[in-house]
Amino acid sequence: MKVPSPKRLRRKNRIAALLLAAFVVQASACPALAGSRGAGYFPNIPLITHEGESVRFYDDLVENRVVAVNFIYTSCPDSCPAETAKLKQVYNELGDRVGRDVFMYSISIDPEHDTPAVLKKFRKKFQIGPGWVFLTGEEADITLLRQKLGLYLDEIQDGSGDHNISFIVGNDRTGKWIKRSPFDNPKSLANLIGYGLFDGMLQRSNARSYANVPDAPKYSRGEYLYRSRCASCHTIGGGESLGPDLHGVTKLRDHAWLVRWLKEPDEMLAEGDPIARELFERYNQLAMPNLRLDDADAEALIEFMAAQSRRVGRAR
Ligand code: HEC
Repeated sequence: MKVPSPKRLRRKNRIAALLLAAFVVQASACPALAGSRGAGYFPNIPLITHEGESVRFYDDLVENRVVAVNFIYTSCPDSCPAETAKLKQVYNELGDRVGRDVFMYSISIDPEHDTPAVLKKFRKKFQIGPGWVFLTGEEADITLLRQKLGLYLDEIQDGSGDHNISFIVGNDRTGKWIKRSPFDNPKSLANLIGYGLFDGMLQRSNARSYANVPDAPKYSRGEYLYRSRCASCHTIGGGESLGPDLHGVTKLRDHAWLVRWLKEPDEMLAEGDPIARELFERYNQLAMPNLRLDDADAEALIEFMAAQSRRVGRAR
């Protein structure tokens, strides 16, 4: 027997995983069960929106809707801003369908600190428009909800602030619910939320199927990191986004400053580094998250930002 190469094996495993994912979606889409389905399962807890409006989780937010739900807390220095920025890309992809066909909810796990006013401010930093609602409530209720949604991990309830950053997307009419990482490709997430979850849409001839997803291109380490961790807030030569345009930044800043900045921007800001303070004020007081990068990551990113700036410069 011919032994498959490791590359082919990985490919086979990936195809098997995709088929399994497609099967889970299909299997739970039993038409006989269609209709509003979650009433008996989801706790109908009271919550308050960033506008101060009182709502019930199931009755007002979920019933008969396609929704995406995640949990955040606004004082979180790393994963939540990165997660929110990623979901913002999904939100942008979905455009004005958010709030009409699909609904996005970010619920605070730190209700004591995250009052409606604090949530409203956080939302504004990310320039989030209508259709994506931030919510707070009673801690015990929210914990129950996280447990019911399968987004509560016992092992990290240690006060460190670590929490499960997956999010749940689902359609209450069909009872299809899927867990996803916000760090997946924003276009495929938008496609899943915007089309994949709708009744009968998977059968549509022009619906994109998992089998047609092209192989991931091979990126250098720096480009891979940039695309997966930074592109939700930055461009290189494409103008300002949530953060500054990074075109030419490797020439503008001292190398050592840049390496440290990529590794611990939160500490530099806390220490009152003048450049960090000036940028923080300029960018809506949205702090660049600490993405837990090491020296090798920082060097790879700097190399990529420099090379990409040169490419952009040549193309102009
Ligand atoms: C959640 C959004 C967000 C993410 C993700 C993010 N940044 Fe930033 N970045 C910012 C903001 C906002 C600023 C402006 C400084 C501030 O407000 O803290 C900034 C500033 C910077 C600066 C300084 C620019 C200058 O003029 O000196 C660099 C360099 C940078 N980011 C690189 C990166 C890289 C590389 C990544 C990925 C590893 C990344 N950022 C991820 C939001 C983000």
